[in-house]
Amino acid sequence: MIPQGFIEEVQNKTDIVELISSYLPLRRAGRNFRANCPFHSEKTPSFMISPQKQIFHCFGCQAGGGAVQFVTLYEKVNFPEAVEILAKRLGLEIPYQKQDGINSKLKTNISDVAAEASVFFHQNLLEDKNAKGALAYLLNRGISLDTIKQFRIGYAPGRNTLLDYFRKKNFTIDILEKASLIVSRQESFHDMFNDRVMFPIFDVRGKVLGFGGRIWKDIKEAPKYINSPESPLYSKREHLFGLNFSKDEIIKQDCIIVVEGYLDMIVPYAAGIKNIAASLGTALTPEQAHLIRRYTSHVVLAYDSDKAGQAATLRALDLLLENELKVKVVKLPQGFDPDSLVRKEGRDCFARLIAQREDFFDYKIGVLKNAHDAESIEGKTKITQEIFSTLANLKSEIERYEYIRKLSQALRIKEEIMIDEWRRSHGAKSKNNTYLKSPGTMYKGTKELMPLTEKIIFKFMLNNKKAFPFIKKNLTETDFSSHLARKAASYFFSSGSPDALAAPENLVSGIQDKDLSSFISSIIMDEDIPFDKESFKGSILKLRKNRMSDLRRKVKDQIGEAEAKGDRGKLEDLIAKHDSINKELR
Ligand code: CTP
Ligand code: MN
Repeated sequence: MIPQGFIEEVQNKTDIVELISSYLPLRRAGRNFRANCPFHSEKTPSFMISPQKQIFHCFGCQAGGGAVQFVTLYEKVNFPEAVEILAKRLGLEIPYQKQDGINSKLKTNISDVAAEASVFFHQNLLEDKNAKGALAYLLNRGISLDTIKQFRIGYAPGRNTLLDYFRKKNFTIDILEKASLIVSRQESFHDMFNDRVMFPIFDVRGKVLGFGGRIWKDIKEAPKYINSPESPLYSKREHLFGLNFSKDEIIKQDCIIVVEGYLDMIVPYAAGIKNIAASLGTALTPEQAHLIRRYTSHVVLAYDSDKAGQAATLRALDLLLENELKVKVVKLPQGFDPDSLVRKEGRDCFARLIAQREDFFDYKIGVLKNAHDAESIEGKTKITQEIFSTLANLKSEIERYEYIRKLSQALRIKEEIMIDEWRRSHGAKSKNNTYLKSPGTMYKGTKELMPLTEKIIFKFMLNNKKAFPFIKKNLTETDFSSHLARKAASYFFSSGSPDALAAPENLVSGIQDKDLSSFISSIIMDEDIPFDKESFKGSILKLRKNRMSDLRRKVKDQIGEAEAKGDRGKLEDLIAKHDSINKELR
């Protein structure tokens, strides 16, 4: 566990404006800075940063907090990892405390297990006698020893060698299973990977998340690859294979080549085509598109040229366009994938094809013209529909107009008619596409409605030292009506000393709950919340009144019960109580 004092130190020494400007371009806006929000897609910036308060908040998607929270969202890391990143930036060492929280311990341990397993597999490949066949297989596929070392490619002997080895090193069965390195079968545990070539899957920072294991012998029944399943560590949809190696070159060239397979990434990379990463044979996800956007906005798809590859390309280009990336497509000769092309025809051949990449539009028109008769009315209609469904993903009307023009030329249909057709079929729908689809990891924000009275109370709590004891004396957590307000109140009442509250940035620094930190940043940054004594007192009174009328309702119910039972003594007490409530409410 990281001591709270250290988290505060890191937060205090980090200038949030400087931090965020190292990720995004910022513009001054009065006392604050403004940017396009990196956590949802938008055209007019609603992402604000306050240098005074050292807090950011997006009024579009509600993401918000301090430096640590920014890093958790941007780098997609957990809280301790974010503190670690910031500490590193400052050149500070983390004084870890013992007694880790269960969750973070679990996670660190899974990372450790995965990292150690990658080393175990790698050493096996290089040293184990049984790995000779696998090693020869790799060398035969043109993968050099240097590349094997760089990608930490390994060999899993199986037969429970991993299980035995890790047991001796005091890893628990539980953690090995959570890391999916072993599986339980017939009431005992076995290695997950048996006699396979192992490709570690890294995150962008080079941490091992999982593995892909390939058979190297000709075995008919076995699947070609076995991949680590989803685990607390590895969420497939959020990563691209090889990006840790290629990201610098992707930034430099302002372009990423996206391929399908492990070797489609490794082989071209080793041959010098370095701005490349692999989606690992599944449909691209919005999370991956978002990840790409950190490094470049230009994507070149280089999937297999077969039917499946073509379908995958069409799906990927829609998704990428929808996420505001520019998309081009490389056409590979029949029967080749990037790996076999580089191996058999040479790197220059692949480089030439990359240079000849087609714009997504030309690629899709080509595919459609192959599938439909572009001279027939039916064909023209079909092609138009298909292209329209892709153009609907574009965010820029100017671009869309240009492509509609191109389409009218390609099909030899008058431009005005094409534009009319667009308006008729898609005109109304294409608007308001602001939020990225599938907000899996994107910050969703809390849309919970909170009465203004409650916001006012929090505004005072966070801005006025003297307000806090007064609030604490007069209100309890349950006086707040919304779920979020109760959560915030309970947080403040239990952890907020008046001093801490006077420096909201300190208070925010320790919050791990995204909803809570976004709520606090919104209260701090929202200048529409009244900040005068009258409103404050009025709000406290209002909440107390609410409490009293709730109580009155309850007492009334009890009176009814007492009457029914004929309990005279109780009835008198209750009526007295009712009267005193009434007095207070008047
Ligand atoms: N894949 C998988 N499981 C399979 C087949 C494929 O997970 N049974 C994934 C792998 O990530 C693989 C990618 O899909 O790298 C592309 O599949 P494919 O083109 O069939 O394999 P290649 O990458 O060409 O594999 P290789 O060159 O090693 O035959
Ligand atoms: Mn291949």
